[in-house]
Amino acid sequence: MDRLAIEGPTKLEGRIGVSGAKNAALPIMAACLLGDGPSRLLGVPRLNDVETLGVILGGLGLYCSRDGDALDCKVVDEKNSTAPYDHVRKMRASICVLGPLLARRGEAQVSLPGGCVIGPRPIDLHLKGLKALGAEVKIEHGYVMARAKELRGARIYLGGPHGSSVLGTATAMMAATLAKGRTVIEHAAVEPEVEDLAGFLIAMGAKIEGAGSHRVVIEGVDSLQGVEYRIIPDRIEAGTLMVAAAMTGGDVTLEGARIQHLDAVTDCLEAVGATVEVAEDDVRVRGSGRLGPVDVTTLPYPGFPTDMQAQVMAMLSVSDGASVVTERVYPERFMHVGELKRMGAEIKQDGPTAVVTGVEELSAAPVMASDLRASAALVLAGLVCKGRTEVLRVYHLDRGYEKLDEKLRSLGARVERISE
Ligand code: EPZ
Repeated sequence: MDRLAIEGPTKLEGRIGVSGAKNAALPIMAACLLGDGPSRLLGVPRLNDVETLGVILGGLGLYCSRDGDALDCKVVDEKNSTAPYDHVRKMRASICVLGPLLARRGEAQVSLPGGCVIGPRPIDLHLKGLKALGAEVKIEHGYVMARAKELRGARIYLGGPHGSSVLGTATAMMAATLAKGRTVIEHAAVEPEVEDLAGFLIAMGAKIEGAGSHRVVIEGVDSLQGVEYRIIPDRIEAGTLMVAAAMTGGDVTLEGARIQHLDAVTDCLEAVGATVEVAEDDVRVRGSGRLGPVDVTTLPYPGFPTDMQAQVMAMLSVSDGASVVTERVYPERFMHVGELKRMGAEIKQDGPTAVVTGVEELSAAPVMASDLRASAALVLAGLVCKGRTEVLRVYHLDRGYEKLDEKLRSLGARVERISE
C-alpha cells in the first residue's frame, strides 16, 4: 500500500490543469450501456474508480479502452447483466449500471453497494424511480434483482431526507430515456454532473428537458446512438486545489476550472480572506497571511459541497478563530476529524456539527487515510505542517484524484510517494 511523505511547510505557486470530473465520468460510462454503437468519452480522468467501473462494465459486455485522455466504450455482447459483489463492494457508484441495464436489456442483477466510511449509503430512491417506471424490483442474497418487459413513463418524486439523490436522479433519468412515454422527475438533483450526464444522453438522441433544475422531463425514444463527448472539469479537484493554495498562503492558477460550478467554495475562501480571480477558464487563488474563520454548512448543489467539507476543515484548523462546520448531506462524514486532531487540530464534534478552533500550527505526524476526501484533507494539512507528515493508505486518494501528488509537486510541494 502506497503512502505519501510530505515535507512542510510549503507555499503552493504556479499553474496546474484540472482533470475531468470523476462524478460525471462514472455515470456517463454506465450510460454507454444504453447506446447502439461505440462512444468516445474525452477528458476521462485516470482514476482507480474509473478502472473499477471499467472492469464491471467489461463483465457486462461493454468494453472500455483507454486512448490518452479518451475512453472508447463499445458494447460487444449483452448476455450477462449481473454486476458481482466483489467489484461493486469496491465502489458504491457501481449502482449506476442498474438503470441502463434495465432499460436496455429488461433485466439487471446488481450487488447492493457496501457500507461506506462516510455513513449509510441507501439506494431506496434509486429503486423508487425504477419501480415507478414499471420495474419489478426485489432484494435477494445481497443483490438488487430488477426486471421489466417494458418501462413506461411516470411521475417520480425523488426528494429524500437529505435533499435529492445525485445518482438516484441519474438512475431514473437513464432508465426513462428508453421508457414508453413521458417521465417527470420532481426534486431531481441539480449537480453539474447530473446536467453533464443529461448532455451526454441528449447527444445520444435522448429527449430530456430541465436537467440541472429540480424538474426534469424525459420523453422516451426507441434507441440511442453512441457519440463522442467531453466530460466537464472536476469541480471537487479544483476546489481542493483552491483550498490548498489559500491555506498554504500560495498563489495558484487553475487551468480549465469551471468557476460557475464553484460559487459556494469561492464564497467560503473569500470569507476567510483568500482572493479568487477569474479569467475565462482560469481561476487564480491567493492566500494572504493568516486566514480567518467561517461557518460552513454542506447542502446539495448549489450549496456548499459535502465533498469539500474535509478539505475546508483542514484549512479552518489553521485559520484564526472558531468556525462551525455542519454536515447536512452525510451527517457522519467526519472520519478526518480524528486524524486532524492527531496533528494538533482543535475540533469538537457533536453529531453533524463540528467546532474548529484554529491553532498556530499543526504538527507533522503519520496519519491514516480513510475515505477519498478525508485523505485529501490530510495531504493539505501536511502541506502546512513543519516537518514530515506521512499519509498512509493513499489508495483512497488514487480513487478520486488524478496524480494529485504530481500536481502538488509541480506547484512546489515536497511530496514523495513511497510504494510498499
Ligand atoms: C454522489 O453520491 C457523489 N458520488 C458523492 O461523491 C457525493 O458526496 C454525493 O453525490 C452528494 O453530492 C458520485 O457521484 C459517484 P446521493 P450519491 O445519493 O449519488 C441520501 C466523492 O467523494 N440518499 O446524492 O451516492 C444519502 O444517504 C463521492 O466523490 C437516500 O436517502 O449521493 C445522502 O445522505 C462521495 N436514498 C444523500 O441522500 C437514496 O436512495 C445524498 O446522497 C440515495 C441517497
